[in-house]
Amino acid sequence: MMSESPTKRIAVIPGDGIGPEVTAEAVKILNAAVRKSGKKLALTNFDWGADRYLRDGTTLPPDAPEMFRRNYDAILFGALGDPRVPSNQHAADILLGLRFKLDLYVNARPCYLQDARLTPLKNREEKDIHFIVFRENTEGLYAGVGGIFKKNTEDEVAIQEDVNTHKGVERILRHAFEYARRNNLTRLCMSDKSNAMTYAHDIWQRLFKKMRSEYPEINSTHQFIDNLLLQIVRDPTQFEVIVTCNLFGDIASDVGAGIIGGLGVAPSGNINPGQVSLFEPVHGSAPPIAGQNIANPMGAILSAAMMLDHIDWPKEARAIENAVHEAIIEGKTTQDLGGNLGTNQVGDYIAEKLS
Ligand SMILES: NC(=O)c1ccc[n+]([C@@H]2O[C@H](COP(=O)([O-])OP(=O)(O)OC[C@H]3O[C@@H](n4cnc5c(N)ncnc54)[C@H](O)[C@@H]3O)[C@@H](O)[C@H]2O)c1
Repeated sequence: MMSESPTKRIAVIPGDGIGPEVTAEAVKILNAAVRKSGKKLALTNFDWGADRYLRDGTTLPPDAPEMFRRNYDAILFGALGDPRVPSNQHAADILLGLRFKLDLYVNARPCYLQDARLTPLKNREEKDIHFIVFRENTEGLYAGVGGIFKKNTEDEVAIQEDVNTHKGVERILRHAFEYARRNNLTRLCMSDKSNAMTYAHDIWQRLFKKMRSEYPEINSTHQFIDNLLLQIVRDPTQFEVIVTCNLFGDIASDVGAGIIGGLGVAPSGNINPGQVSLFEPVHGSAPPIAGQNIANPMGAILSAAMMLDHIDWPKEARAIENAVHEAIIEGKTTQDLGGNLGTNQVGDYIAEKLS
């Protein structure tokens, strides 16, 4: 459980590729945001990633989940993925391992347009794109159930099972409805593919129908995932809260990122409410742009702000979000958002605003 003390303990896992670059800026911003508050962050670095894996085979040590639960309030994560590890084994062990073993069942991915210039959609303003995707984060097609039969023969059979449990579906739906209620949001859309996945997604339909009657003030609707993606692009004003399964949430939130300025600016939280949780930018390790000081650190910085909300430091979280917003409006950004600053210059600029 989280500590009540003014010092919060944060585990930092920068990872691979651009992960360390954007995480360094997020740490810079965290330190700037709490400097004057009298609060303290105790940060501990973990060098898990491709280098370590290639050096000594370490991925996620078996005692790590318990260690995080016992000794930390939150985890700040960069990204994993390296062309030298084509199997991506270390990434699967570490990131999926932490999601599953810490039971981080909510993947929260806000898609908020910060400046109309950033969206590729025509005639859209900031207020038109403001929704959050809640992706189920511990089961579905990512549960790792399946197998390959007669691999590398013409008779090969590859199976990946879609795991949907009563507990798993119910708690992510509940989280989304409660979030909407708490924040006075009145539009919630559940998305599945129950017309084709008649076993795996029927349970989403049944539990959704049952739960929506408990929230009469919320206009809850349903869209099949294919139509949802089309509607997000056609008219994003329809959405405030979207809740869906693991795979569809992964895809829908990338579409969401695409219409707010790209992956560089999209944050996320892997959350178990009230428990140690993990915060990371939506993007991956982007190997082709690593080491060039051109990666956008804003997704990582906004993820750090989400982390501060989780540890109940909302004032500092809002200060960070406001500083990022101002930097975007002023054009003090990396190339992907049309600016000409380097990764660390963007971090310096935002840190300066905070101090
Ligand atoms: N959570 C994670 O750790 C995570 C998530 C997705 C992908 N990955 C891994 O990352 C590696 C690369 O995957 P990918 O190329 O599909 O996805 P990616 O997110 O790394 O990159 C996709 C595109 O977005 C750009 N991009 C990403 N982050 C950016 C940033 N901060 N600033 C500017 N541009 C940015 C990249 O240059 C690239 O063009 C793979 O090994 C993949 O498995 C990891």
